[in-house]
Amino acid sequence: MGWLANLRDRTIPPMPTVLEADGLTKVYGGTRDPVPAVTDVSLSVGEGTFVAIMGASGSGKSTLLHLLAGLDMPSAGRVRIEGHDLTAMSDHKRTLFRRRRLGIVFQAYNLLPALTARENVVLPLMVDGVRPRSVQAKVDELLRTVDLTARQTHRPQALSGGEQQRVAIARALVNDPAILLADEPTGNLDSTHGQEIWRLLKALVRDHGRTVIAVTHEAQGAAHADRIIVLKDGRIVGEIAADGGFDAALVAARYAELAG
Ligand SMILES: Nc1ncnc2c1ncn2[C@@H]1O[C@H](COP(=O)(O)OP(=O)(O)O)[C@@H](O)[C@H]1O
Ligand SMILES: [Mg+2]
Repeated sequence: MGWLANLRDRTIPPMPTVLEADGLTKVYGGTRDPVPAVTDVSLSVGEGTFVAIMGASGSGKSTLLHLLAGLDMPSAGRVRIEGHDLTAMSDHKRTLFRRRRLGIVFQAYNLLPALTARENVVLPLMVDGVRPRSVQAKVDELLRTVDLTARQTHRPQALSGGEQQRVAIARALVNDPAILLADEPTGNLDSTHGQEIWRLLKALVRDHGRTVIAVTHEAQGAAHADRIIVLKDGRIVGEIAADGGFDAALVAARYAELAG
């Protein structure tokens, strides 16, 4: 039985940390009427993990996501991605870093209406001077992953909301980002199409080794994640324990305990 004990003792090496937030705080407004949107948030996200951050409207989800993505600067605290401190970079360096190492998805799909689905996906690389022909195979694969191969020549107006969000996700992945950040990615979708997006995000992590952070107020969506962190009034009030997988009802109940 020695080998069994041996196996049990062997610890699984932790996945490398992709993102580290330390004491993140964001206060809007002036000194006379400060609005604290995010307060002292610290968070560490390992490679190949799907993290959901759940919170009610106004709890600071978008503010936090913008800070993690380097779209906004904190009043205090730091964000490191792959060891690079976003908060120490010049605006120009941070813009480049975002374009090259991050993928960001919003509730609104923000596609260019004059371009086809495929062209929208390739666009971020063209900004960096990459020729579309040299990335054909990669774009084919991405379109397959988001199940849009058959719709790739359509313009956004000819696509459903769910399809448009899948284009936006493929576009966010085209630079092979260290992390995909999503702000209420299903906020404009009905629940059936929303669930499709959550399943896609989960598959990106499970089958393609991506790292995802998504903020949402929906227990149904968050239940697809590996970790669920609960935000209330700009602070992390707890993490819902996974116990080998979530279901939406359990998440909703635990969320109500933590955030209620
Ligand atoms: N640009 C801003 N100026 C002032 N207050 C803001 C700004 N953005 C957000 N807030 C405030 O910060 C808090 C958190 O907002 P937000 O991050 O948008 O929350 P959520 O995305 O969870 O709905 C809210 O009280 C909101 O009114
Ligand atoms: Mg928001």
